[in-house]
Amino acid sequence: MSTPQEYIETNKEKFIEELFEFLRIPSVSTDSSKKEEVQKAANFLISQFENLGLNTVKKFDTPGHPIVYAEHCPHEDRPTVLIYGHYDVQPSDPDELWDSPAFEPTVKDGLIYARGASDDKGQAFTHVKAIESFVKTGKELPVNIKFILEGEEEIGSPNLVPFLEEHEDLLACDMVLISDTAMFAEDQPSITYGLRGLAYMEVEVVGPNRDLHSGVYGGAVENPLNVLCEIIAKLKDENGVIQIPGFYDNVIPLTKTDRKAFAQLPFNEEEYKKTLGIKAVHGEKGYSTLERSSARPTLDVNGIWGGYQKEGAKTVLPSKGNAKISMRLVPDQDPKEIAQLFKQHVESLAPDTVKVTVTEHHGGHPSVTDLNFYGLKAGAKAFEEIYGKEVLFSREGGSIPIVADFKRVLGVESVLMGFGLTSNAIHSPNENFAIKDFYRGIKTSARFLELLPEYSS
Ligand code: BES
Ligand code: MN
Ligand code: MN
Repeated sequence: MSTPQEYIETNKEKFIEELFEFLRIPSVSTDSSKKEEVQKAANFLISQFENLGLNTVKKFDTPGHPIVYAEHCPHEDRPTVLIYGHYDVQPSDPDELWDSPAFEPTVKDGLIYARGASDDKGQAFTHVKAIESFVKTGKELPVNIKFILEGEEEIGSPNLVPFLEEHEDLLACDMVLISDTAMFAEDQPSITYGLRGLAYMEVEVVGPNRDLHSGVYGGAVENPLNVLCEIIAKLKDENGVIQIPGFYDNVIPLTKTDRKAFAQLPFNEEEYKKTLGIKAVHGEKGYSTLERSSARPTLDVNGIWGGYQKEGAKTVLPSKGNAKISMRLVPDQDPKEIAQLFKQHVESLAPDTVKVTVTEHHGGHPSVTDLNFYGLKAGAKAFEEIYGKEVLFSREGGSIPIVADFKRVLGVESVLMGFGLTSNAIHSPNENFAIKDFYRGIKTSARFLELLPEYSS
């Protein structure tokens, strides 16, 4: 009988074929016309777990997309790891910017191109295959395992939060393991110990009851798009400091130690600018690029529209203008509170010539993991053995809001072991995942689970 690591080595082709089957399912959670496809992706995982003969395999229906649950807990005296991931994906559009179809996985130069390849199907699947490497070699699992894979992460996990609260006992564990982040750089493994939160707002400014001729009325009637731009311009000052009263009240300032740790990370700003095609970086005065992009709060316009957008020029004074604005949050900012402060402030900036409405979309809490947690140490060791490189600890700017809920409801830390790269183009056209990272991910996961018992005692 082979070892789990040998099993992984000899089954690489099979793993890729299975991942491709998973990636071909367009499980776009935000698109109601794809509801059946999201179900299909859940069923794919269910059949994977059934093939492994895990003790419990169950699909929980929710008012939205299903939650896939599986567990295998043979030990009384060993840690229980709850493995979280998401099988829903972002929409693929704009499709014309993909070099190969988004839902037809295509390999080029060692990269798998497909929507969800990195975020999060490819990464989540590494853990399924790691468990398989124990089961199929006749080995007992080194620790107790529970899987929770959701189909609504990309739409703010509306049904997972209540599910956690209702199934506290079922989900009881010693830690959560998640691969849904990126490594610090190519071939440079890292463990993410901080994620930002999110408050996502929409602003509508309404003026006259119809679009007007900009010559006949321009100058005498307020232009809602002008107002919208003026409001947005007032939300930050020239130093990049957000001007919403109370916005920074609960921000935990970075300590000297935090800042030293950021400064020591091997970050190459020239390279960063080059890959993005920008002449200069930009952000809050007094902070480094890494601090700005992962440990300081932000405010960004995600989309703005209104008036005439098609070919040529149409002289028009639009009757309304809209914008979607997101704020990334850091500990201890509260998304609901920040949304409220934003709403009050934007409304206070509105002149009485227009009507301004502010609505709130989904949001989430930021999180930071305790660096002394033994799970991180075992994770670092596993990464070092498989990648042959010392692990870095870093914070990331993206959001996985459920991490804060795991801490709040289950009282556990999350080990964020990303196998992706920032160059994976998640949420963008040509999303990809390196085949070698897929394999190393499976091996690292298996090794992590093997190492855990000794680190927990
Ligand atoms: N996997 C990402 C989050 C992520 C990406 C964290 C890269 C760290 C590095 C996740 O699927 C995601 O896209 N989250 C959303 C938030 C969610 C509430 C829609 C995000 O960050 O915009
Ligand atoms: Mn994700
Ligand atoms: Mn995502």
